[in-house]
Amino acid sequence: MRVLVTGGAGYIGSHTLLELMAQGHEVCVLDDYSNATPEVLNRVRVLSNGTVADYTGDVRDPEMLDQVMQIFRPDAVIHFAGLKAVGESEAKPLLYYDVNVGGTLALLRAMDRVGCRTIIFSSSATVYGEPVYLPYDEAHPTAPMSVYGQSKLMAENILTSWAKATQGAAAVLLRYFNPVGAHHSSKIGEDPKDIPNNLMPYIAQVAVGKRPALSVFGDDYDTPDGTGLRDYIHVVDLARAHVAALDYATKTPGARPFNIGTGQSYSVRDMVAAFESACGQKIATIQAERRAGDIAAMQADASRAAAELGWRAEHGLNDMAASTWAWQSANPNGYDPQK
Ligand code: WQD
Repeated sequence: MRVLVTGGAGYIGSHTLLELMAQGHEVCVLDDYSNATPEVLNRVRVLSNGTVADYTGDVRDPEMLDQVMQIFRPDAVIHFAGLKAVGESEAKPLLYYDVNVGGTLALLRAMDRVGCRTIIFSSSATVYGEPVYLPYDEAHPTAPMSVYGQSKLMAENILTSWAKATQGAAAVLLRYFNPVGAHHSSKIGEDPKDIPNNLMPYIAQVAVGKRPALSVFGDDYDTPDGTGLRDYIHVVDLARAHVAALDYATKTPGARPFNIGTGQSYSVRDMVAAFESACGQKIATIQAERRAGDIAAMQADASRAAAELGWRAEHGLNDMAASTWAWQSANPNGYDPQK
């Protein structure tokens, strides 16, 4: 299939390009490079020994979208382009709604103009909010606690209405838990633009000496060791879930959410310990207060994805830590050696 990948130069997008191409799909990227660099696509081209068409532009720009749609004529779209920093979303709500919701609206309108009716959407488990029960299944109430989570849920609702009103349309809503890790080549990986918000890239930057110590946000949660529990998923498993979702979408009209996690959760201290054994050195930590908005524990029930997508996570914690370390130690400044 011809697959347009918005945000395809990003962390999850770039890993997904490799999996799509490995399955024989033809890919085209639209990215504004606000949180990525064109170097990523150069590396994807080398790794895949394949062709990656790409356009630089904003997913909210109808003229840009029409140009890409007319030239590439996608059979399907995988929509990653969006803003994802929870803290920033509270400070800049209009920007987050404009990009994450407005961008999805603009994309669907452009798809309608060329009759493209298949979309895979990068959603997030943050749409659930505080757990009423764990593990979260897809029937769990949705009550996002952040603007970021609200924007993802609004986009899901728009996609659901679009799929219902559009003959033959399919919208697969992938609710990611916590993506970590890197491609086994160590040529692509997570490269946050500023100080990492997320745990794993922060630990990795401590390990390469870019940060002095990891602040552990809270040690008094109702969890086995008092630190936050999350369902971390290897980015290659997550990428493969998009290929499985694409296959499903071509056969299944309508909109449907799927949890994409492992069903196993780990604490902050578990992650630090796993990384220490992967890199062979101690990770300095400082005990800090809880971070506002953090939930004690998150864990996926991913049985729907197993049953209906034929997908399940295959990489374990050691591979998540070892692949992150291999990427970070080979690229201590990420994609920009001058950084
Ligand atoms: C994980 C755990 C922190 C940093 C967010 C988004 C989610 C997705 C992933 C976009 C928590 C603790 C973290 C640090 C720490 N992003 N922590 N010190 O908050 O579960 O999820 O990122 O799609 O949508 O909500 O991930 O990695 O920030 O935190 O102690 O320096 O690590 O308290 O328990 P989170 P995280």
